[in-house]
Amino acid sequence: MAEKWVAARYGSLDGVELIDTEVPAPGQGEVTIAVKAVGMNPADVKGIQSGQDPAALPLPIGYEAAGVVSAAGPGISLEVGTEVIAFRVSGGYATELTVPAEDVFVKPQGLDWPAAANLMLAGATAADMLRVVEPQEGDTILVHGASGAVGVSVLQQARLMGLRVIGTASEQRFGVVEEFGGTAVVYGDGLEARIRSLAPEGIAAALDCVGTDEAVDVSLALVADRSKIVSIAAFGRAADEGYRVVGGADPESKAFRDSQRQRLVDLAADGSLVVPVARTFPFAEAPAALELLSSGHPGGKLALLV
Ligand SMILES: NC(=O)c1ccc[n+]([C@@H]2O[C@H](COP(=O)([O-])OP(=O)(O)OC[C@H]3O[C@@H](n4cnc5c(N)ncnc54)[C@H](OP(=O)(O)O)[C@@H]3O)[C@@H](O)[C@H]2O)c1
Repeated sequence: MAEKWVAARYGSLDGVELIDTEVPAPGQGEVTIAVKAVGMNPADVKGIQSGQDPAALPLPIGYEAAGVVSAAGPGISLEVGTEVIAFRVSGGYATELTVPAEDVFVKPQGLDWPAAANLMLAGATAADMLRVVEPQEGDTILVHGASGAVGVSVLQQARLMGLRVIGTASEQRFGVVEEFGGTAVVYGDGLEARIRSLAPEGIAAALDCVGTDEAVDVSLALVADRSKIVSIAAFGRAADEGYRVVGGADPESKAFRDSQRQRLVDLAADGSLVVPVARTFPFAEAPAALELLSSGHPGGKLALLV
């Protein structure tokens, strides 16, 4: 018997409950993982707050986790005891999970559990945003929310592509933007003018990891070609304004993100992609962790430790 967190109802985080669950034995093409750390993402909160489908309740929470293979189905080459990362899974907030082996990757030894559990969703999203806007080496790009989980991964992947990044953040988070090679700029009134003075060469593409009207307006003002603007959070205005939006459920994005998982593991293994973790919580304290996540300023990634 395992434990997992689910949302019993939509709307507020008050409906999040810990329940006992049977973990099925792994079938053909599956492995069971004893979870060590659960990765947390804003989508975990959004799914609870804005979910609509009563048939999906109780709602599983979480898309990524890391742990140790505890059982393997027929034909699986992963041995029991192998340290692994699982993404994308449904219901990652669990002490044990049975998942398709194709979504399981060997964890680099040097990567700790909280970072491993948080590597994939933000990393694959960042890669997808860069795919969509196709920047060229030497370009300057704008990243809204460069201090956030996706933003920090964009910074590092952009550096590998030879790009210059102007990244928005709160002043107290400038350090993380600069640590990963970005030029930090504070969001808020006057943002467009501040960016123009930091990038007289012009902005080749804008990547919005925030979703505010300010992020959209400034992107539209600075980047004439709307196919070079992508958002992962401002869905409402995209059709009218003509910029790109991407989500993990879009077939093209899903296929691309899946294709990036081993690359992300390899980058993490050689140290060229790091996952700054702000705080870990005991598994039993998921509600408190979700509250911090819902603030919009978690200060780095959060993980639940089993
Ligand atoms: N569509 C997709 O496929 C997809 C995938 C992943 C994430 N997302 C979405 O993308 C967003 C970012 O995800 P994440 O994991 O990077 O979140 P995160 O780690 O919580 O980071 C949030 C970021 O937003 C910034 N921020 C908060 N309020 C702001 C404001 N009023 N103006 C400007 N910036 C503000 C924060 O900056 P400071 O902390 O410096 O203030 C921080 O950089 C979330 O909305 C998430 O749901 C979408």
